[in-house]
Amino acid sequence: MNPMLNIAIRAARKAGNVVAKGYERRDEIQTLSKGTNDFVTNIDKAAESAIIEVIKKSYPDHTIIAEESGALEGKESDIQWIIDPLDGTTNFVKGLPHFSISIAIRVKGRTEVGVVYDPIRNELFTAIRGEGAKLNEMRLRIENKRELQGCVLATGFPFKKTALMPLQFAMMNSLTSDVADFRRTGSAALDLCYTAAGRVDGYFEMGVKAWDIAAGDLIAREAGCLVSDFNGGHSYLTAGHLVAAAPRLVKEILNKIQPCLNGEFKG
Ligand code: IPD
Ligand code: CA
Ligand code: CA
Ligand code: CA
Repeated sequence: MNPMLNIAIRAARKAGNVVAKGYERRDEIQTLSKGTNDFVTNIDKAAESAIIEVIKKSYPDHTIIAEESGALEGKESDIQWIIDPLDGTTNFVKGLPHFSISIAIRVKGRTEVGVVYDPIRNELFTAIRGEGAKLNEMRLRIENKRELQGCVLATGFPFKKTALMPLQFAMMNSLTSDVADFRRTGSAALDLCYTAAGRVDGYFEMGVKAWDIAAGDLIAREAGCLVSDFNGGHSYLTAGHLVAAAPRLVKEILNKIQPCLNGEFKG
């Protein structure tokens, strides 16, 4: 097995244990606010420390960018681990069993490995660039859908940037006459993996960070999805807005949502 994938899986499972144990004793969780509707718990931090410890043991020189610790520059700046120790903190805090651990490895600016782990369902999504995506041992390959009719789309609501909410509703409004339904699951990493697994037909969101989507992006692309920013480009890891689906569906979704943007995100 790819040695870096191996370490990423080990780290994700270790953090998964921390998160699953923390979930069982939710009454003991300490929650802090980082900003508007933006929470962090002692479990997010403990899971992140567990991941960093595993990586540092095998790769002490690699650079690590983690949601709660920021950038830990290593001697090797060409290899970056991008970590979300608990994606779906709001679900976790509320007792809604849908959250994940997300770990991506980027080499010279290209994502090579992606791991997303759901510790409640024991589902491990993995991908290596050029070698496909898997859910546990099962290969993932999406259907080549072309039409929005009958599709269920996952999305996220920009609660951390509420000024974007009218735009969110405008985009959903532009799609409602075509799609069958929407899902807001609360974990962007799992939204991308569920798109890869065909559990939803596509996903779009704005206001996300690289650690929310870097691993799920590779998993979705390796399962046959196109992932694009709202302008049809590739800047989504930095821009924070994205659409993922079968290539023709992405086009259909962009055709619907782009007229709502009114110059937002251009440039
Ligand atoms: C959040 C989740 C959510 C998305 C938010 C993210 P967090 O991550 O991915 O689905 O809508 O934009 O910030 O804060 O729970 O790690
Ligand atoms: Ca967070
Ligand atoms: Ca996240
Ligand atoms: Ca998080």
